[in-house]
Amino acid sequence: MKRHATLAVRLSLFTGALIVTHTAQADTPALSQQLEDLQSFQVIAHRGASGHAPESSMAALELAHAWGADYLELDIQMTSDGELVAFHDDTLERTSNGEGHINDHTLAELKALDAGSWFNEAHPALANPAYEGAHILTLEEVLNRFDEDVRFYLETKSPELNPGVEEGLVRRLEAYDMIETGRVLIQSFDQASLLKIHDLNPDIPLIQLVWYSPAEENEGRLTEWTGVTPAPGEVTDEDFQRVADYAVGLGTNYLYDGEPVITEAFVQQAQENGLAVHVYTINEVDEMQRLLDWGVNGLFTDYPDRLIELTE
Ligand code: G3P
Ligand code: CA
Repeated sequence: MKRHATLAVRLSLFTGALIVTHTAQADTPALSQQLEDLQSFQVIAHRGASGHAPESSMAALELAHAWGADYLELDIQMTSDGELVAFHDDTLERTSNGEGHINDHTLAELKALDAGSWFNEAHPALANPAYEGAHILTLEEVLNRFDEDVRFYLETKSPELNPGVEEGLVRRLEAYDMIETGRVLIQSFDQASLLKIHDLNPDIPLIQLVWYSPAEENEGRLTEWTGVTPAPGEVTDEDFQRVADYAVGLGTNYLYDGEPVITEAFVQQAQENGLAVHVYTINEVDEMQRLLDWGVNGLFTDYPDRLIELTE
Protein backbone atom coordinates (compact mmCIF):
# COMPACT_ATOMS: atom_id res chain seq x y z
CA MET A 1 0.00 0.00 0.00
CA LYS A 2 2.98 2.28 0.49
CA ARG A 3 3.87 2.04 -3.17
CA HIS A 4 2.50 4.63 -5.46
CA ALA A 5 0.16 3.28 -8.06
CA THR A 6 1.91 3.40 -11.39
CA LEU A 7 -1.35 4.23 -13.07
CA ALA A 8 -3.77 6.67 -11.61
CA VAL A 9 -6.78 8.63 -12.64
CA ARG A 10 -6.64 11.99 -10.95
CA LEU A 11 -9.26 14.63 -10.58
CA SER A 12 -8.11 18.10 -11.40
CA LEU A 13 -9.29 20.41 -8.66
CA PHE A 14 -8.84 23.28 -11.10
CA THR A 15 -10.83 22.02 -14.04
CA GLY A 16 -13.15 19.62 -12.25
CA ALA A 17 -12.33 17.03 -14.89
CA LEU A 18 -10.83 13.64 -14.34
CA ILE A 19 -7.40 13.65 -15.87
CA VAL A 20 -4.95 10.85 -16.29
CA THR A 21 -1.59 11.09 -14.58
CA HIS A 22 0.18 7.92 -15.50
CA THR A 23 3.70 7.04 -14.58
CA ALA A 24 3.40 3.55 -15.95
CA GLN A 25 6.65 1.76 -16.58
CA ALA A 26 5.15 0.42 -19.79
CA ASP A 27 3.39 3.53 -20.95
CA THR A 28 1.64 2.28 -24.04
CA PRO A 29 -0.89 4.30 -26.01
CA ALA A 30 -3.45 1.58 -25.39
CA LEU A 31 -3.02 1.74 -21.62
CA SER A 32 -3.24 5.51 -21.75
CA GLN A 33 -6.40 5.21 -23.79
CA GLN A 34 -7.90 2.82 -21.26
CA LEU A 35 -7.20 5.27 -18.45
CA GLU A 36 -8.55 8.14 -20.49
CA ASP A 37 -11.71 6.16 -21.15
CA LEU A 38 -12.18 5.78 -17.40
CA GLN A 39 -12.83 9.52 -17.36
CA SER A 40 -16.05 8.97 -19.24
CA PHE A 41 -18.94 6.71 -18.28
CA GLN A 42 -18.39 2.94 -18.46
CA VAL A 43 -21.11 0.33 -18.93
CA ILE A 44 -20.00 -2.78 -17.03
CA ALA A 45 -21.90 -5.92 -17.94
CA HIS A 46 -22.21 -7.80 -14.64
CA ARG A 47 -21.40 -11.48 -15.31
CA GLY A 48 -22.24 -10.60 -18.91
CA ALA A 49 -25.82 -9.62 -19.73
CA SER A 50 -26.84 -11.82 -16.83
CA GLY A 51 -30.38 -10.49 -16.71
CA HIS A 52 -30.99 -12.11 -20.08
CA ALA A 53 -28.89 -15.30 -20.10
CA PRO A 54 -27.13 -17.54 -17.56
CA GLU A 55 -24.57 -15.51 -15.66
CA SER A 56 -20.93 -15.91 -16.72
CA SER A 57 -21.97 -17.93 -19.77
CA MET A 58 -20.75 -17.32 -23.31
CA ALA A 59 -24.30 -16.37 -24.27
CA ALA A 60 -24.40 -13.67 -21.59
CA LEU A 61 -20.98 -12.35 -22.61
CA GLU A 62 -21.83 -12.34 -26.31
CA LEU A 63 -25.08 -10.47 -25.72
CA ALA A 64 -23.35 -7.82 -23.63
CA HIS A 65 -20.65 -7.39 -26.24
CA ALA A 66 -23.16 -7.21 -29.07
CA TRP A 67 -25.03 -4.47 -27.23
CA GLY A 68 -21.84 -2.48 -26.80
CA ALA A 69 -20.93 -2.81 -23.13
CA ASP A 70 -17.59 -1.20 -22.31
CA TYR A 71 -16.49 -4.01 -19.99
CA LEU A 72 -17.46 -7.65 -19.54
CA GLU A 73 -17.39 -8.40 -15.81
CA LEU A 74 -16.52 -11.85 -14.48
CA ASP A 75 -15.56 -13.42 -11.15
CA ILE A 76 -12.46 -15.58 -11.35
CA GLN A 77 -11.88 -18.67 -9.22
CA MET A 78 -9.41 -21.54 -9.30
CA THR A 79 -10.10 -25.22 -9.76
CA SER A 80 -8.39 -27.89 -7.64
CA ASP A 81 -6.00 -28.50 -10.55
CA GLY A 82 -5.05 -24.86 -10.92
CA GLU A 83 -7.23 -23.74 -13.84
CA LEU A 84 -8.98 -20.38 -13.75
CA VAL A 85 -12.72 -20.35 -14.32
CA ALA A 86 -15.44 -17.71 -14.43
CA PHE A 87 -17.90 -18.41 -11.62
CA HIS A 88 -19.43 -16.20 -8.97
CA ASP A 89 -20.49 -18.35 -6.04
CA ASP A 90 -18.06 -20.27 -3.87
CA THR A 91 -20.37 -23.27 -4.19
CA LEU A 92 -21.89 -24.90 -7.25
CA GLU A 93 -25.51 -25.44 -6.29
CA ARG A 94 -27.20 -22.17 -7.28
CA THR A 95 -25.97 -21.90 -10.86
CA SER A 96 -25.15 -25.46 -11.87
CA ASN A 97 -26.18 -29.04 -11.24
CA GLY A 98 -22.99 -29.64 -9.25
CA GLU A 99 -22.47 -29.81 -5.51
CA GLY A 100 -19.89 -28.48 -3.12
CA HIS A 101 -17.15 -25.90 -3.35
CA ILE A 102 -16.01 -25.01 -6.82
CA ASN A 103 -12.33 -25.10 -5.86
CA ASP A 104 -12.64 -28.68 -4.58
CA HIS A 105 -13.25 -29.81 -8.19
CA THR A 106 -10.98 -30.36 -11.15
CA LEU A 107 -11.65 -28.57 -14.40
CA ALA A 108 -12.75 -31.85 -15.97
CA GLU A 109 -15.32 -32.33 -13.22
CA LEU A 110 -16.61 -28.79 -13.64
CA LYS A 111 -16.77 -29.13 -17.41
CA ALA A 112 -19.17 -32.06 -17.01
CA LEU A 113 -21.71 -29.81 -15.27
CA ASP A 114 -24.73 -28.01 -16.71
CA ALA A 115 -24.41 -24.35 -15.77
CA GLY A 116 -27.33 -23.14 -17.89
CA SER A 117 -30.52 -25.08 -17.17
CA TRP A 118 -30.93 -23.43 -13.76
CA PHE A 119 -31.54 -20.15 -15.60
CA ASN A 120 -34.39 -21.58 -17.64
CA GLU A 121 -35.99 -22.96 -14.49
CA ALA A 122 -35.53 -19.73 -12.56
CA HIS A 123 -36.67 -17.49 -15.42
CA PRO A 124 -39.26 -19.34 -17.53
CA ALA A 125 -40.13 -16.21 -19.49
CA LEU A 126 -36.52 -15.91 -20.64
CA ALA A 127 -35.87 -19.63 -21.04
CA ASN A 128 -33.94 -20.69 -24.12
CA PRO A 129 -33.11 -24.31 -24.98
CA ALA A 130 -29.69 -23.09 -26.14
CA TYR A 131 -28.79 -22.35 -22.52
CA GLU A 132 -29.19 -25.98 -21.48
CA GLY A 133 -25.88 -27.63 -20.82
CA ALA A 134 -23.90 -24.39 -20.82
CA HIS A 135 -20.39 -25.07 -19.58
CA ILE A 136 -18.47 -23.29 -16.88
CA LEU A 137 -15.93 -21.25 -18.84
CA THR A 138 -12.20 -21.07 -18.39
CA LEU A 139 -10.58 -17.67 -18.54
CA GLU A 140 -8.72 -18.79 -21.65
CA GLU A 141 -11.95 -19.74 -23.41
CA VAL A 142 -13.30 -16.28 -22.71
CA LEU A 143 -10.15 -14.50 -23.86
CA ASN A 144 -9.95 -16.64 -27.00
CA ARG A 145 -13.56 -15.93 -27.90
CA PHE A 146 -13.39 -12.14 -28.16
CA ASP A 147 -11.44 -9.81 -30.39
CA GLU A 148 -8.94 -7.28 -29.21
CA ASP A 149 -11.50 -4.50 -28.92
CA VAL A 150 -13.12 -6.13 -25.88
CA ARG A 151 -12.26 -5.16 -22.32
CA PHE A 152 -12.69 -7.33 -19.23
CA TYR A 153 -13.34 -6.41 -15.61
CA LEU A 154 -12.13 -9.42 -13.64
CA GLU A 155 -12.64 -10.03 -9.94
CA THR A 156 -10.41 -12.16 -7.75
CA LYS A 157 -13.35 -13.76 -5.96
CA SER A 158 -12.80 -15.20 -2.49
CA PRO A 159 -9.01 -15.22 -2.81
CA GLU A 160 -8.72 -16.90 0.59
CA LEU A 161 -10.39 -19.95 -0.98
CA ASN A 162 -8.35 -19.66 -4.18
CA PRO A 163 -4.70 -19.48 -3.11
CA GLY A 164 -2.47 -18.58 -6.03
CA VAL A 165 -5.28 -17.03 -8.05
CA GLU A 166 -3.40 -13.74 -8.35
CA GLU A 167 -0.27 -15.30 -9.85
CA GLY A 168 -2.33 -17.48 -12.18
CA LEU A 169 -4.43 -14.56 -13.33
CA VAL A 170 -1.56 -12.16 -13.96
CA ARG A 171 0.43 -14.87 -15.76
CA ARG A 172 -2.46 -15.57 -18.12
CA LEU A 173 -3.25 -11.92 -18.73
CA GLU A 174 0.39 -11.29 -19.59
CA ALA A 175 0.45 -14.29 -21.91
CA TYR A 176 -2.61 -12.95 -23.71
CA ASP A 177 -1.11 -9.45 -23.83
CA MET A 178 -4.16 -8.06 -22.08
CA ILE A 179 -2.39 -5.52 -19.91
CA GLU A 180 -0.28 -3.30 -22.15
CA THR A 181 -3.13 -3.36 -24.66
CA GLY A 182 -5.41 -1.74 -22.05
CA ARG A 183 -7.97 -4.53 -22.07
CA VAL A 184 -8.34 -5.46 -18.43
CA LEU A 185 -9.19 -4.09 -15.00
CA ILE A 186 -8.87 -6.24 -11.89
CA GLN A 187 -11.24 -5.73 -8.97
CA SER A 188 -11.45 -7.30 -5.54
CA PHE A 189 -13.00 -6.82 -2.13
CA ASP A 190 -9.74 -8.20 -0.78
CA GLN A 191 -7.18 -5.43 -0.47
CA ALA A 192 -4.33 -7.91 0.05
CA SER A 193 -5.26 -9.61 -3.21
CA LEU A 194 -5.10 -6.29 -5.07
CA LEU A 195 -1.76 -5.42 -3.49
CA LYS A 196 -0.41 -8.81 -4.53
CA ILE A 197 -1.48 -8.11 -8.10
CA HIS A 198 0.03 -4.64 -7.92
CA ASP A 199 3.34 -6.20 -6.89
CA LEU A 200 3.13 -8.79 -9.65
CA ASN A 201 2.40 -6.25 -12.37
CA PRO A 202 2.01 -2.60 -11.38
CA ASP A 203 0.63 -1.67 -14.80
CA ILE A 204 -2.70 -3.40 -14.19
CA PRO A 205 -5.41 -0.88 -13.29
CA LEU A 206 -7.12 -1.97 -10.07
CA ILE A 207 -10.53 -1.32 -8.58
CA GLN A 208 -11.03 -1.65 -4.82
CA LEU A 209 -14.47 -3.06 -4.10
CA VAL A 210 -16.25 -1.97 -0.93
CA TRP A 211 -19.58 -2.88 0.60
CA TYR A 212 -21.34 -0.60 3.03
CA SER A 213 -24.01 -1.88 5.42
CA PRO A 214 -25.40 -0.99 8.85
CA ALA A 215 -23.00 -1.75 11.69
CA GLU A 216 -24.14 -4.74 13.77
CA GLU A 217 -23.54 -2.94 17.06
CA ASN A 218 -25.27 0.28 15.92
CA GLU A 219 -27.64 0.08 12.99
CA GLY A 220 -27.72 3.86 12.72
CA ARG A 221 -24.10 3.74 11.56
CA LEU A 222 -22.71 2.26 8.41
CA THR A 223 -19.62 0.12 8.23
CA GLU A 224 -17.47 -1.19 5.39
CA TRP A 225 -17.31 -4.97 5.18
CA THR A 226 -13.57 -5.34 4.65
CA GLY A 227 -12.46 -2.31 6.67
CA VAL A 228 -10.90 -0.60 3.67
CA THR A 229 -12.64 2.71 4.43
CA PRO A 230 -14.76 4.06 7.26
CA ALA A 231 -18.46 4.72 6.63
CA PRO A 232 -19.27 7.06 3.73
CA GLY A 233 -20.14 9.91 6.09
CA GLU A 234 -16.87 9.47 7.98
CA VAL A 235 -14.41 8.78 5.19
CA THR A 236 -11.57 11.30 4.91
CA ASP A 237 -9.48 12.39 1.96
CA GLU A 238 -6.60 10.45 3.52
CA ASP A 239 -8.71 7.27 3.51
CA PHE A 240 -9.37 7.69 -0.20
CA GLN A 241 -5.74 8.59 -0.87
CA ARG A 242 -4.65 5.31 0.70
CA VAL A 243 -6.82 3.49 -1.84
CA ALA A 244 -5.58 5.72 -4.67
CA ASP A 245 -2.03 4.61 -3.85
CA TYR A 246 -2.73 1.31 -5.58
CA ALA A 247 -6.12 1.55 -7.30
CA VAL A 248 -7.61 3.70 -10.03
CA GLY A 249 -11.12 3.40 -8.70
CA LEU A 250 -13.63 2.29 -6.14
CA GLY A 251 -16.45 -0.17 -6.80
CA THR A 252 -19.23 0.35 -4.29
CA ASN A 253 -22.75 -0.74 -3.55
CA TYR A 254 -25.43 1.94 -3.79
CA LEU A 255 -28.15 0.29 -1.73
CA TYR A 256 -28.39 -1.86 1.35
CA ASP A 257 -31.82 -3.38 1.91
CA GLY A 258 -33.28 -0.85 -0.53
CA GLU A 259 -31.77 2.17 1.24
CA PRO A 260 -28.93 4.25 -0.21
CA VAL A 261 -25.61 3.86 1.59
CA ILE A 262 -23.65 6.39 -0.47
CA THR A 263 -24.35 9.97 -1.46
CA GLU A 264 -23.45 12.29 -4.30
CA ALA A 265 -20.97 13.96 -1.93
CA PHE A 266 -19.26 10.61 -1.32
CA VAL A 267 -18.90 10.10 -5.07
CA GLN A 268 -17.45 13.57 -5.51
CA GLN A 269 -15.03 13.16 -2.62
CA ALA A 270 -13.73 9.88 -4.02
CA GLN A 271 -13.30 11.49 -7.44
CA GLU A 272 -11.53 14.50 -5.95
CA ASN A 273 -9.05 12.03 -4.49
CA GLY A 274 -8.31 10.49 -7.85
CA LEU A 275 -10.67 7.53 -7.74
CA ALA A 276 -13.12 6.66 -10.47
CA VAL A 277 -16.40 5.51 -8.89
CA HIS A 278 -18.18 2.45 -10.27
CA VAL A 279 -21.41 1.35 -8.58
CA TYR A 280 -22.88 -2.16 -8.40
CA THR A 281 -25.31 -3.71 -9.24
CA ILE A 282 -27.83 -1.33 -10.77
CA ASN A 283 -30.67 -2.81 -12.78
CA GLU A 284 -33.50 -0.28 -12.38
CA VAL A 285 -33.60 2.60 -14.82
CA ASP A 286 -34.53 5.23 -12.22
CA GLU A 287 -31.54 4.24 -10.10
CA MET A 288 -29.29 4.26 -13.16
CA GLN A 289 -30.46 7.79 -13.95
CA ARG A 290 -29.93 9.02 -10.37
CA LEU A 291 -26.37 7.73 -10.32
CA LEU A 292 -25.70 9.16 -13.78
CA ASP A 293 -26.91 12.50 -12.45
CA TRP A 294 -24.45 12.16 -9.58
CA GLY A 295 -21.66 11.80 -12.12
CA VAL A 296 -20.46 8.28 -11.30
CA ASN A 297 -17.89 6.88 -13.72
CA GLY A 298 -19.60 3.58 -14.39
CA LEU A 299 -22.30 1.14 -13.38
CA PHE A 300 -22.28 -2.63 -13.08
CA THR A 301 -25.56 -3.94 -14.40
CA ASP A 302 -27.18 -7.22 -15.39
CA TYR A 303 -29.00 -5.22 -18.09
CA PRO A 304 -26.40 -3.40 -20.18
CA ASP A 305 -29.07 -2.88 -22.85
CA ARG A 306 -31.10 -0.68 -20.47
CA LEU A 307 -28.07 1.34 -19.43
CA ILE A 308 -26.82 1.80 -22.98
CA GLU A 309 -30.25 2.98 -24.08
CA LEU A 310 -30.23 5.50 -21.24
CA THR A 311 -26.77 6.83 -22.00
CA GLU A 312 -27.01 7.04 -25.80
O1 G3P B 1 -17.77 -6.85 -8.85
C1 G3P B 1 -18.76 -5.96 -8.50
C2 G3P B 1 -19.83 -6.78 -8.02
O2 G3P B 1 -19.90 -7.81 -8.96
C3 G3P B 1 -19.46 -7.33 -6.67
O3 G3P B 1 -20.42 -8.14 -6.25
O4 G3P B 1 -21.04 -10.35 -5.56
O5 G3P B 1 -21.70 -9.53 -7.80
O6 G3P B 1 -19.36 -10.13 -7.35
P1 G3P B 1 -20.63 -9.61 -6.78
CA1 CA C 1 -18.13 -9.50 -9.27
